[in-house]
Amino acid sequence: MSVKKVLASAPAKIILFGEHSVVYGKPAIAAAIDLRTYVRAEFNDSGRIKIEAHDIRTPGLIVSFSEDSIYFESDYGKAAEVLSYVREAINLVMEEADRNAGVTVSITSQIPVGAGLGSSAAVAVATIGAVSRLLGLELSNEEVGKLGHRVELLVQGASSGIDPTVSAIGGFIHYQKGKFDHLPFMELPIVVGYTGSSGSTKELVAMVRRNYEEMPDVIEPILESMGRVVEKAREIIVSDYDRGVKFPLLGRLMNINHGLLDALGVSTKKLSELVYAAKTAGALGAKITGAGGGGCMYALAPEKQSEVATAITIAGGTPMITRISREGLRIEEVLP
Ligand code: MEV
Repeated sequence: MSVKKVLASAPAKIILFGEHSVVYGKPAIAAAIDLRTYVRAEFNDSGRIKIEAHDIRTPGLIVSFSEDSIYFESDYGKAAEVLSYVREAINLVMEEADRNAGVTVSITSQIPVGAGLGSSAAVAVATIGAVSRLLGLELSNEEVGKLGHRVELLVQGASSGIDPTVSAIGGFIHYQKGKFDHLPFMELPIVVGYTGSSGSTKELVAMVRRNYEEMPDVIEPILESMGRVVEKAREIIVSDYDRGVKFPLLGRLMNINHGLLDALGVSTKKLSELVYAAKTAGALGAKITGAGGGGCMYALAPEKQSEVATAITIAGGTPMITRISREGLRIEEVLP
């Protein structure tokens, strides 16, 4: 059957433990969450690549282009940054398929851009999923995740690959140096708090790299500790799964991980305010999730989710009570 149109979707993620240190080969734990980016890909007769962005959520701005197509060169600030992931994703798939065709890609996203929730990885994964299927390439979700990693390396210069992997695979994973395993699936009683401002993953990763190169003897032990926090958290999740996970211990590990991220310089006043507000309202632990510099924190709050959500609102953040998504990349529709 020759395919004319494909709709694919991919989820956002949260990093539970180990952001930044994962770029240096340490392990990390992440989960896909139930906010999605949808990408529709179809052939066009112009021979060009067209990208239409519908409702790309950037902080303080919703870009809606319902009728006119836009080309990715257009400068729409943060939205344009997202479009560079889309462009690289399309180029890479065409290279893999050894084919050039006019393709129109339309994007709709529920994931705020620059919030540390993996909006760029989700858009790259959904684009690779939709365009590869349109061009007749049979890729597994794992292969799509690997191509997503190549897209991040092209756009950001540095990336561990954890974001596209978890977005493509879904569920709850332990990740290290391009390899992952699934952790037992569970619903975590968490609240995500969005600062409303965004951080650039590319710049934050580069800033940590500069510090690392200038003071390796100071920074390496911080990264090493982060790796140990992750391994301890994994032990608790895996070994206590049947008897009920030890949330207080996980909470303490989150607080340690947050302190270490602060030491790396990726926290902000607002992130710290949301973290302390959540802990004061009864969260067992709270930390940055993602690259930091704005974006989101999350709190572990069994039986206290609504109190913590209120505290985050009072502290000036936007709370989101999200669920873990078992599914990663999903092909929603294939039309002949
Ligand atoms: C961003 O979500 C996570 C970082 O560790 C970067 C990466 O792993 O590529 C900051």
